Amino acid sequence: MLAQLEELKQKALRGLEAIREIGELESWRVRYLGRKSELTQILRGLSNMPLGERKAVGASANEVKSSLENDLEEKKRNLEVVSLATTTGEKGIDITLPGRHLPLGHLHPITQTLDEIYDIFISMGFGVFEAPEVEWDYYNFEGLNIPEEHPARDNMATLWVDDGGERSRLLRTHTTGGDLRIMERMKPPIRAVNAGKVYRYEASDATHTPMFHQLDGLAIDIGITMADLKGTLYEFARRFFGKGRRVRFRCDYFPFVEPGAEMAVECSVCRGSGCRLCGMSGWIEILGAGMVHPQVLRNGGCDPEVYSGFAFGLGIERLPMLRYGIDDIRLFFSSDLRFLRQF
Ligand code: DAH
Repeated sequence: MLAQLEELKQKALRGLEAIREIGELESWRVRYLGRKSELTQILRGLSNMPLGERKAVGASANEVKSSLENDLEEKKRNLEVVSLATTTGEKGIDITLPGRHLPLGHLHPITQTLDEIYDIFISMGFGVFEAPEVEWDYYNFEGLNIPEEHPARDNMATLWVDDGGERSRLLRTHTTGGDLRIMERMKPPIRAVNAGKVYRYEASDATHTPMFHQLDGLAIDIGITMADLKGTLYEFARRFFGKGRRVRFRCDYFPFVEPGAEMAVECSVCRGSGCRLCGMSGWIEILGAGMVHPQVLRNGGCDPEVYSGFAFGLGIERLPMLRYGIDDIRLFFSSDLRFLRQF
């Protein structure tokens, strides 16, 4: 029996030696180590042998088995190395070369800023909405209390898509029209922001571009007051600019709010003492705001006798400009990678 085992082992080894392809290893394994192999039969028959013989044959058979298993693993590793070497050789691939680096892009600084602002307002319970960039006169002006001959239209040089008339279309000059659309679609309590591109018919310079970004916020409910507006915007400024930055509230006029206000933050360059960036005032205005005008509430389907609300609108580009001391808004839209890679 011991001689038979030895012979079996030699035969298996010769078979293994002859193999040149990884694919052939499996049938070799089935033949010499599989369930129906001679070796397995011998191991199974051990229990029928007399004790003395069983010990010696058992030990030897198990040794043949584990040594063949090791040989199989080693052969497999060798064949893998050979096959890798031949394919890379055939295809002329140098596997020692460093990998090719694929450059990864990142979000535009305006998108990053918007995401950051969204996060702050979402954490205060606001939902995020979208409104169209090509807008009806009604949502951009008329419904916001800015009728045809209102001088406020002069402040927003408009790019018209068609030529006037009651249902004429334009490229929205602000995101405030989105507030009206949100009111039409939702019932109070409303807490919503909407943001995106806005357009003005203006020549570009360091502080103007014909396209820029705004975010408008709206909150409508029973009993909302100016204190809610100030609390919300102070918290926003604290989260965006940090604790130490002073903010200032002053009266302002917008036809769609009453009373109206503007909020400014301390200039990032001079910290309030006055410099060129802030026009020597020490403050930079970042947003307009106010209590939604009763007529606008009515236009949006909310009864001003029951509900009140606040609204605010801020320029997005202003914020990274203030934070990083960027002195030309056109840099955001110039696609200059030397600028964009810094964010
Ligand atoms: N839409 C105004 C603008 O573009 C900004 C603004 C002011 C928005 C007051 C508001 C607001 O919602 O209440 O200048």
